[in-house]
Amino acid sequence: MPIVIVSDIKNLEPWIKALKKADPAIDVITHNEVKDKSAIEFALAWNYPHGIFSEYPRLKAISSMGAGVDHIINDKFLPEHIRIVRITDPLLSNDMFEYTLAVIMNRLRLLTYFQENQRLRIWKKRMYMRISGVRIGLMGAGTIGSHILSKLQNSGFKVSGWARTRGNKVPYKKYYGSGQMEKFLNNTDILICLLPLTAETYGILNKSTMKMLPEKSWIINMGRGGHIVDEELIEMLDSGHLDGASLDVFREEPLPVDHPFWSHPKIFITPHIASLPDPGSVAPQIIENYHRTIENRPLLNTVDRQRGY
Ligand code: GLV
Repeated sequence: MPIVIVSDIKNLEPWIKALKKADPAIDVITHNEVKDKSAIEFALAWNYPHGIFSEYPRLKAISSMGAGVDHIINDKFLPEHIRIVRITDPLLSNDMFEYTLAVIMNRLRLLTYFQENQRLRIWKKRMYMRISGVRIGLMGAGTIGSHILSKLQNSGFKVSGWARTRGNKVPYKKYYGSGQMEKFLNNTDILICLLPLTAETYGILNKSTMKMLPEKSWIINMGRGGHIVDEELIEMLDSGHLDGASLDVFREEPLPVDHPFWSHPKIFITPHIASLPDPGSVAPQIIENYHRTIENRPLLNTVDRQRGY
């Protein structure tokens, strides 16, 4: 029984190769190659056209090709009984940490500023910031967030996390629930957003929450574009309340060429590359979930569709 891949990813060859390597007995095909849709029970998906899975009458489970599952959960046509699983991978978590560290160090040591001066042949010293002098706050302190916070803490940063619920005990200061959000934001100089996008978190970074951050703070968004109210971020940057933003995710991707973020002097843009899943690293867990699906066993890394992550 084949695995079908339904995705907007242009080159699926590395995925097909990695899955076949993890289990040579399984056929891996793309949506256009499927001859008998009733033979498919397990799919792998990323940014697919919503409604497409209605064509698969015996589909039981869909694995996201990444950590995020909002692209599947938002599919209004997806039958209730179809289970959704996500990828959890230490390599992916660490890539997120390395991205975070890079953009934080860029801010602290003013690398973009000096690069611009180099372009203009300007020799001008400007005082930098030190790791010990900034407080990092991360919203969405789950598996990946906790990894990032622990590594930042080990690098000398003062860190804290915020999550919807108290959760397990963690080695850093953790705030939780809407009641503690203001205190968390009041004590954050660089805010990292790593939340899942749900009805509750949509637009969570708006004028009122951004105002809770101290003057001259900075935002790093590597959750989803929908977390930020774009016009209100621009307003906060222009008023000087926020000093800058590093954005890896956007409401519309690719970011439209006429979007004001592109030319904003206080915005640093990367094209959704904080972490890219490594097919070789994640193929074994996908194959494991394929077998569990076929055998009607409990799946790994399941998503609560009601909760949204
Ligand atoms: C990337 O955005 C992911 O969800 O893995």
